[in-house]
Amino acid sequence: MTANTAVNQTDKNSPTTIYLKDYLPPAFLIEKTHLTFQLDPEKTTVTSVLQCVANPKAAPSQSLTLHGQDLKLVRLQLNNKALTAADYCVEEESLTIHAVPDAFTLTCVTEISPATNSSLEGLYKSRTMYCTQCEAEGFRKITYYLDRPDVLSEFTTTVIGDKQQFPVLLSNGNLVASEQLENGFHSATWHDPFKKPAYLFALVAGDLQVVEDNFITCSGRNVVLKIFVEPKDLDKCEHAMASLKNAMKWDEEVYGREYDLDIFMIVAVDDFNMGAMENKGLNIFNTSCVLANPKTTTDAGFARVEGVVAHEYFHNWSGNRVTCRDWFQLSLKEGFTVFRDEEFSSDMGSRTVKRVEDVNVMRTLQFAEDGGPMAHPVQPASFMEISNFYTLTIYEKGAEVVRMYHTLLGPELFRQGSDLYFERHDGEAATIEDFTAAMAEVSGRDFSQFKYWYSQAGTPVVKAEGDYCAQAKTFSLTFEQYCPDTPEAKGSDKKPYHIPVNVSLLGKAGLLPLTLDSQAQPQTEVVLELTEAQQTFVFNDVQEEPVPSLFRGFSAPVKSAYPYKKADLLRITTQDSDGFARFDAMQQLAVVAIFDVMAALRKQEEWQLEPLLLNAVKELLTNEALDPAMVALMCTLPSQAYMSGLATPIEVELIHQARNAVKAAIAEQCFDLWLAVYNRCLSTKAYAFNANDVALRSLKKVALEYLMVKPTEEVLALCVKQFNNADNMTDESAAMSALVDCTAPLAAKERVDALAQFYERWKDEALVVNLWLSVQAADSTPGALKRVEALLKHPAYDSANPNKIRSVVSVFCNQNAVNFHAIDGSGYVFLADQILVLNKQNPQIASRLLGPLTKWQKYDVNRQGLMREQLLRIQSEPALSKDVYEVVAKSL
Ligand code: TRP
Ligand code: ZN
Repeated sequence: MTANTAVNQTDKNSPTTIYLKDYLPPAFLIEKTHLTFQLDPEKTTVTSVLQCVANPKAAPSQSLTLHGQDLKLVRLQLNNKALTAADYCVEEESLTIHAVPDAFTLTCVTEISPATNSSLEGLYKSRTMYCTQCEAEGFRKITYYLDRPDVLSEFTTTVIGDKQQFPVLLSNGNLVASEQLENGFHSATWHDPFKKPAYLFALVAGDLQVVEDNFITCSGRNVVLKIFVEPKDLDKCEHAMASLKNAMKWDEEVYGREYDLDIFMIVAVDDFNMGAMENKGLNIFNTSCVLANPKTTTDAGFARVEGVVAHEYFHNWSGNRVTCRDWFQLSLKEGFTVFRDEEFSSDMGSRTVKRVEDVNVMRTLQFAEDGGPMAHPVQPASFMEISNFYTLTIYEKGAEVVRMYHTLLGPELFRQGSDLYFERHDGEAATIEDFTAAMAEVSGRDFSQFKYWYSQAGTPVVKAEGDYCAQAKTFSLTFEQYCPDTPEAKGSDKKPYHIPVNVSLLGKAGLLPLTLDSQAQPQTEVVLELTEAQQTFVFNDVQEEPVPSLFRGFSAPVKSAYPYKKADLLRITTQDSDGFARFDAMQQLAVVAIFDVMAALRKQEEWQLEPLLLNAVKELLTNEALDPAMVALMCTLPSQAYMSGLATPIEVELIHQARNAVKAAIAEQCFDLWLAVYNRCLSTKAYAFNANDVALRSLKKVALEYLMVKPTEEVLALCVKQFNNADNMTDESAAMSALVDCTAPLAAKERVDALAQFYERWKDEALVVNLWLSVQAADSTPGALKRVEALLKHPAYDSANPNKIRSVVSVFCNQNAVNFHAIDGSGYVFLADQILVLNKQNPQIASRLLGPLTKWQKYDVNRQGLMREQLLRIQSEPALSKDVYEVVAKSL
């Protein structure tokens, strides 16, 4: 594995860069693919029979080149003729057959070793189970193939294995034959009638239990639904099954999309690089994204399962029936599908809460990506390793771009555009351009400027100013936009974006009616379309000086700035009808308050909590008519990571101190209110995952966090009681976190006990143990690195399991800023050590872990030097994977 994927360092060339502009259609097509797997841990034999034809749309070619990696070639046959060494050429990542006719059958036998495949790409072993992960370019680790998404083939797959070890044998499509064989072996043959690219191929074999249900589609067809899990997890499938059925119904109602096979299967595996994978008819899930049970899963976990189950299901249309021409079009399926799953989750739960959470991810994480060395457009122009481009930009920003079509077109036209896109490209490999063309065609709109959202990297900055003329009763809004430099383009060379700005004007008593020059009918919200670098919009008949509410609902993925007075923000937090805008204004108030404290601490001056913020919190805690979820969100201070994105150099300790100081001040000055809120949120009802109950639990959690900053005996007892008596993991883990985060001497014993007891209670539940690990990895008290190093040696840790790595290493490096950025550089050395080990073992995970180091330019010179030193150390490793190489090279 390592030898083949390693970058050749003796030749000083870096791995090849692939460019979008170089796209050429494939010289051959594979009409039918027959695969036979004889399962064996270290010697699985794969026989592939490919029916190939010359592609009429490509330049003719005499030779055929297939992708292949880490394969042992056993036998090759063209039509009926066995090929000899002179007929072909095997290279590190390819197989070329020198002379082929226009139509032929190629038979190829290879051997692979799933048991030693630690990259979790291709066919690999997870605990007792065998499974595959082929996206993006993993199929080439199974057999020689045209492993590119524009080669669509009809697959038939036979899996042969020991019946005792693998009673369940699965692949895509419908089961068409099963046979009892000699020596305790059996076989199953699956046929998928829908042509698909190889990245959607899947195979699963193991001793699995199944939960079964069914769904009647809008046209009356019965679809069998099956979720396969290890026996121990049978009691954790109900929520995923309910979510799946909701998703199937929603896609019929909202997008007119019906499921197409007679069976839909989900398999849960423990070792998985990402969240889940949309293989046709056979989705494979990370256990963390499919298993849920009130006792072991938090509300966040339930929401994640619901969202990911829907996401993968929605791919059946946005991704599978219409797939991508090449990997530069990745956001065509991912951005669109994320938009679809976000809207689904909004319809299932609280729309406002979902929007706030998604925008937090955008502004905290995607903006940071856009501002770092790996910044890339939603449609990248080039890459070295495509696995590095499964990013927040492709997924989340891509979804925001689709959302902007929705905003500009309105729901009806957007639906027409989506219908046209699916109808026109069904069974094809499409491009982002095709999607835009469909949206343009149904609406008659010109999206030529809008396309810069796909081709330009970076987060646009929009500055707005308002001017009220009391005499003329006009309010004019002037916008200015620019986009900063990113690695591949100077800001000054970038074109202005087409930006939808959702606007309302707030008067003293609520929203004002709006009249723009061009509009006859007054409304309370309009979508302004900003297209120039500088542009002014004038509202008429504005009876009082308004406070503008801008980018309502986060109508565009930009950094916006308006010179609000604090009192203006306060008005928005209480008066605005848009929940997101209320949250946003509150967050701006909190940011200002934290910055004020930072300024005071820097000068070692006395400080006082911003009174407007304090009053806003008090109002939120006393107004019982408000949605508890909104109160919880609005009273949660912006995270350390969010604050870190607002100014450079990032003052790690100062942000931490100031944030904690503001939190402590609110905690102290609202102690009785928080206690009342906590008691108000207590419930005796059995756990249910619905918007109302989730809201109450989220507010209860925030209340407990504030109360536990400086707990009284009474509060500490409440917290311990919640920890011991909770009937659900949301409340139990909230209490554990509150205890772990509590630095008060009063709680010292309870803190230690809680961690020990929690582990004893849950040591047999892998996903709960992950929670336990991450709470400790995030613990910001001094000495965290020592504790993290001890966790790596704990019996609960598994250095080959991505979920465990994420729970400890990623959480420490991304959510424990003061310790990871320790000024002695120890956090950086630790991370580099981990990356160097994983580089060989699992390059995709290694590369993802690099994230925090790549942002070195955002820190003070001292830390810059220390972080760079570790990047250079990684770079000097002789056998660097493409994945790690690309990120390190671009960061330095
Ligand atoms: N297509 C998958 C999704 O969005 C992503 C995915 C799953 C993936 N596993 C992967 C991407 C491995 C790269 C490598 O749902
Ligand atoms: Zn996806």
